[in-house]
Amino acid sequence: MLLEEVAHPRIVAICGSLGADSSTRRACELALSIAEGEGAQTTLVDLREWHLPFAASGFDAGEWPDVLRLNDLVQNSEGLLWATPEYHGSYSGVLKNALDLGSFDQYAGKAVALLGVAGGAIGATQALGHLRGIARTLHCLCINEQVSIPRAYSAFDGEGKLKDEKLAAGVEHMARELVRWSKIAPALTAKAGA
Ligand SMILES: Cc1cc2nc3c(=O)[nH]c(=O)nc-3n(C[C@H](O)[C@H](O)[C@H](O)COP(=O)(O)O)c2cc1C
Repeated sequence: MLLEEVAHPRIVAICGSLGADSSTRRACELALSIAEGEGAQTTLVDLREWHLPFAASGFDAGEWPDVLRLNDLVQNSEGLLWATPEYHGSYSGVLKNALDLGSFDQYAGKAVALLGVAGGAIGATQALGHLRGIARTLHCLCINEQVSIPRAYSAFDGEGKLKDEKLAAGVEHMARELVRWSKIAPALTAKAGA
């Protein structure tokens, strides 16, 4: 069986750091530039520029244009990059809140890759593990490839490139795989009869 592929999948990265000089944002930019080289159309969501409320059941999304804008962007994509700093052994609150403002309508069936950045030497492995559970709950197609960048404060050079070659290769592989899965995610996850 041949799967119908999206030639130029739309990939949205949600950056879970509000830091002015964010390593998470730098890592997103790196991954998205690789994805663009693979034919993807990319958008970086910098949550500092979005006016979003805290998620709560029963809130009126119509009162928050940026909630509608964010959910539209996600809904009209094939792939997502969820990027987070490790905060106290998990993902950041701003990323979780952005995800909580959406639901299955936006997230189900999207290819998702995970990227974590940490100050410590162990990396963002706990955040990545926890995000994987969220992806499952939202019925995403979370790909195996993920990247954890430890010691973020010294991980990048002046040009925004990762100093560690193996880590750089990991980001490249993850970005390429995200594009590959984003191309086929709609066909793989289409409901029978849809
Ligand atoms: C509230 C908070 C909690 C943090 N918790 C951890 C942690 O549990 N493990 C760790 O390695 N680094 C931790 N850090 C350090 C951040 O992961 C690190 O500074 C990272 O680079 C932040 O990402 P950013 O540069 O994109 O803002 C924490 C930082 C903050 C502000």
